Order: sequence, then structure tokens, then C-alpha cells
Amino acid sequence: MIKVQISNKQSDSFASKYCRLVLTEDPATKHRFVENSNGSTEYRMGIGKKKKITPRTFRSLIRSVYQTTKSHQIEFLVVDYAEINFSNLETLGQTWLGSTVAENFLLASYEFRTYKTQKKVPPTLKEITISNASDKNFAAGLKRGLILGEEINKARDLANMPGCDMTPKAFGEAAKKMAAGTKVSVKVLSKAEITKLKMGALLAVGQGSINPVQFIVAEYWGQGKSKKNQPTVLIGKGITYDSGGLNIKPTGAMHDMHLDMSGGASVLSAVVIAAKLGLKKNVIALVPVAENAISDTAMRAGDIVTSMSGQTIEVLHTDAEGRMVLADALTYSKRYDPKVILDVATLTGAALVALGQLASAVMTKDKNLSDKLVTLGEESGDLMWPLPLWDEYKQSLKSHRADVSNISTTFSRFGGAIEGGSFLSFFTPKKVSWAHIDIAPRMESIAADKLAKGATGEPIRLLTAFLEQS
Ligand code: BES
Ligand code: MN
Ligand code: ZN
Repeated sequence: MIKVQISNKQSDSFASKYCRLVLTEDPATKHRFVENSNGSTEYRMGIGKKKKITPRTFRSLIRSVYQTTKSHQIEFLVVDYAEINFSNLETLGQTWLGSTVAENFLLASYEFRTYKTQKKVPPTLKEITISNASDKNFAAGLKRGLILGEEINKARDLANMPGCDMTPKAFGEAAKKMAAGTKVSVKVLSKAEITKLKMGALLAVGQGSINPVQFIVAEYWGQGKSKKNQPTVLIGKGITYDSGGLNIKPTGAMHDMHLDMSGGASVLSAVVIAAKLGLKKNVIALVPVAENAISDTAMRAGDIVTSMSGQTIEVLHTDAEGRMVLADALTYSKRYDPKVILDVATLTGAALVALGQLASAVMTKDKNLSDKLVTLGEESGDLMWPLPLWDEYKQSLKSHRADVSNISTTFSRFGGAIEGGSFLSFFTPKKVSWAHIDIAPRMESIAADKLAKGATGEPIRLLTAFLEQS
């Protein structure tokens, strides 16, 4: 892991192994690597008008700096605090600034190399020092960002693992390992326990796989367990592989479906981060885990199953499995008397059609919650954008054979992301504030992210900020 630290020394007094970063207002395309006569090096990066920097461009800038150190094989970097303390970012505060710097260095440096047999790689950035810095909040922010960056990268590792190795059982074990040494307690319910709980929807989704279903419960009682300290419940979709089931996915849409447990990895990571930051909050993460496989025991299109809520579900499409497993997790959440529930899921391709690949879709009837998530999305970098969740949308899910069907009974694909959210709303505890976050658009990174290909680790930064502020 990269060391990110502060120093009260001036950057030009550093040893010559340090490359000094200087940000100039030259056009953003103008970058120069300069070697001084004393052997020290300087990287001058043209970033355009400093007054115009925004949280978005700042995060991107940090990631570009990392990419630069990589292409020039710079191992030690020093930058004066004044260079990055942009006046335009002042309102966000010094903790935000420090955290954003550390987070984005770590996120940009991540690579998934578990399955690369060639372990030797060219030298990469070892240490970055922010010189001439003394602000306590900035230092605290750096510390926060290092915790976030490290944990988010671990979540990306879990998501990037192929379905053959990241089975439901392996996922449960990974959750325990993540929480080891923290105040998070993890319980993994077995298929027998899940059967006893009557989670008929989760069981149906997993019944085609030789890898039995699991249900992960991670609890962090940072505020103390008492009736008045209601927890925030985070629910994450944990489909370790989504073949589509009997409604099989076409080529090109299946190979990356090992990432279909990204939501589960994110919520587990968020609870662990809450503990590592020592938040005085109560947080529960619930992850229904299954593999949506194809076999003679797989659920059929047309099957009717009874969910834990007692409501029956007509399975009109075996590839709409995420909402089914989440339905039982939502019912399970009632035992915690939650203050607020957020579910995070790679739920629909339709969310990508609606928003492209830049933001996740938020659906909630709670306008304050929606505004809060959009704002925190902008601040943290895990962008969110709302879609409506009107009651009228529920109509098309009313089945003539069962209580509710898992896709529109007309097989219409219009408004598919909203349809997913509407299905979930049949299972949410009444009178509890709830938001559904469809992270399918952010399941995989795009070039503009300046991140390694594969899992993005979103929306862990957003969830952390949400937990801190709620
Ligand atoms: N895991 C997929 C959604 C998905 C698609 C995530 C592409 C990321 C990228 C989900 O289980 C699924 O298959 N959804 C279906 C729903 C449809 C059958 C109503 C979809 O989006 O096609
Ligand atoms: Mn599916
Ligand atoms: Zn899926």
C-alpha cells in the first residue's frame, strides 16, 4: 500500500529521490518532467484555471497524478500542501480534502493481480508526502482516506474474483475475514437456517446451483444496543454469479456477472469501515447470497414461490433474481426496527440505459433522503441520480396467478430500473425510510474513471459519508 503522509518541511528541502510535484495553470495538456542539475526531479502538471477546480475535477486530478507517477516510475513524490489547497474546495473542509487525496491515490493504484502468474511489476509509487502541512483536520482526513481506500480496494478484490472461486460459501468466509479484529460481528446463516426462516425467494434463486445459498449478517453496535438507538440497515445483493438462469443471458452479457455481488461487498465493507473509523453509530449489513445457475433443479419461468413475507411471487423471468433475494432480506430487516434502510444492488441493465455509466440510480419516496444521497454522491464521488418511485408503477407487477410477479406481467421493458425498485417496495417494512440504489451503471469502471478495469468499489464512499452524517 502507498504511504500517504504529511510533513512540516518545505518540499524543496527534500532528498533528491523525491520527485516534486508542481501544479501550474498551463493548459491541462501541458505536462513536463524536469531534471534539475542537482539530480532532483520535478513534475510540472498543467491543470488549467485553479479557481475552476471542482470536487469532480480534483478527484480526477489526484488520479492523473498517480497515473503520471506510474508512467514515469516515480516512487517518492512530494507536493506542497498549498498546491492542492484550492480556494474553490474550501467549503468542503480540510477533512474532506485530506480524505479525498488519500482515497483517490489508493483507488487509482489498485490493480487486480490475484490471477496473474507474473508477480514482478515495474516500480510504482511507494510514498507521497504533502509538505508544509500542519492542519489537524487535513491530517485526520488523510487517515480517514487511507482506511477508506484500503477497504474499498479489498471490496474490489472480492467483486473481481471469478464466480468459480467466489462461491456463496467463499463469500461468507471472506465477510468473516474482513471483519476480523474489528467490532463487527459476522454471522453466516446456512441453507438449513434460511429454510427455517422461510426465505422462499432466496432459496428459489439458489436452488439450481450446487453451491448452496447463504445469508450474511454483519452487526456493528457503535452507539450501543438499545431500543432508542435504531440502526441503519444496509442490504446488498450477493449474487456470486448470474447466468440468468433458464432465461439464460446472451454472450457478452454473462461473462462479467461475477460482479453481481458488488452491492453485497460494498455494504459489508461500509460496516467494517464504520467500525474502523470508530463511528458512534449502529449499522447492520445484510447480504442474501446465491448463485443464479442453470440445471434441472433451477427455478423455472412460471414457478410460484412464497417469500419470507408470506407474499407469493410468480417468477416470470429467472434473470430478475436480484430483486427476489433482496425481498427476503428486506423482510428479515424488520427484526432490527431500522431507522433507515438502504439497499445496494447491481439490479438492472435498464439503469445503464437510463443514466449511462456515470451514476447509480436512487429510488425512494423520501425526498429528504433522496436529496441527501444525491448531495453526498457529489461530495464523495459515488454519483447518484434519482428516478421516480410512484405507486402507479406497482400496478404492472400485480400477478393474476400469485401476489406479485418479478417482472411486468406485460413483459414491457420500459422503465426497467423503476420496475425493480417497485418490486422491492412490496417487501419494505412499513413506515421506515428506505432507498433503493441500483449500482448496475457503476458495476464496472470506464476509462474516464482512471481506475483499473473491473469493480469500482462504489458506493462505499457514499455509504461511509451517509453513516457519518446520519
Ligand atoms: N445482474 C443483472 C443486472 C445487470 C445487467 C447488472 C447488466 C449490470 C449490468 C440482473 O440480475 C438482471 O439480469 N436484470 C435483468 C432484469 C430483467 C430480466 C427484467 C436485466 O437487466 O436484463
Ligand atoms: Mn439477473
Ligand atoms: Zn443479477
